[in-house]
Amino acid sequence: MLRPGALHRGSRIVVASHNEGKVRELGELFEPYGIECVSAGSLSLPEPEETGETFEANALLKAHAAAAGSGMIAIADDSGLEVEALGGYPGIHSARWGGPAKDFDHAMQRVQAALEATGGGFRRANFTCALALAAPNGEEAVFTGRVFGAIVWPPRGDRGFGYDPIFVPEGYEETFGEMDPALKNDLSHRMRAFEQLIEATYAEDEDENAS
Ligand code: IMP
Repeated sequence: MLRPGALHRGSRIVVASHNEGKVRELGELFEPYGIECVSAGSLSLPEPEETGETFEANALLKAHAAAAGSGMIAIADDSGLEVEALGGYPGIHSARWGGPAKDFDHAMQRVQAALEATGGGFRRANFTCALALAAPNGEEAVFTGRVFGAIVWPPRGDRGFGYDPIFVPEGYEETFGEMDPALKNDLSHRMRAFEQLIEATYAEDEDENAS
């Protein structure tokens, strides 16, 4: 288990992703804590296949592969949209619903069509994010954040990415695609997972008992 002090001011960690958007977003989250993020892509680390059945399992397998390949502490993010009337789909398949072209207009239409097929009345959904940390010695920690809301149709807004234009968080009227990105980041599943990760593994100074 990674404890407070495993991450500290001056830590350098590898982000287990070749997606520059994710690397940038995680880099921005860690920056105020004095933690530098480098990308798995820049170290030419291979991307493991996501064979897990949960967000947590996929995040952990990506983090362990990057930690083993780099000799550094690694962080991985696995996230997606869970629609309750669809039994949690697309869930861990969220990226794949966009097809090889990563076409999220198509993926959003697929969500809407599947909801219509259920009657379309029950539209509750959440975004989920699992953030996993792994150390080269095999120690690990994983944290999950969720933001609840509803699916709307048609899509609205072009400020976000992925399924943002069809998701309205509870207590708001705008979709994540319409919302000021700073507000989305404050509410988001990724921020909720990140806050737990910092609480559990960060200390200003290195703890000699932690690894
Ligand atoms: P992953 O790279 O396998 O974790 O795929 C995550 C997928 O979930 C992304 O491609 C998006 O489609 C979707 N997703 C995750 N987080 C968000 C978000 O904040 N907004 C919109 N879509 C998201």
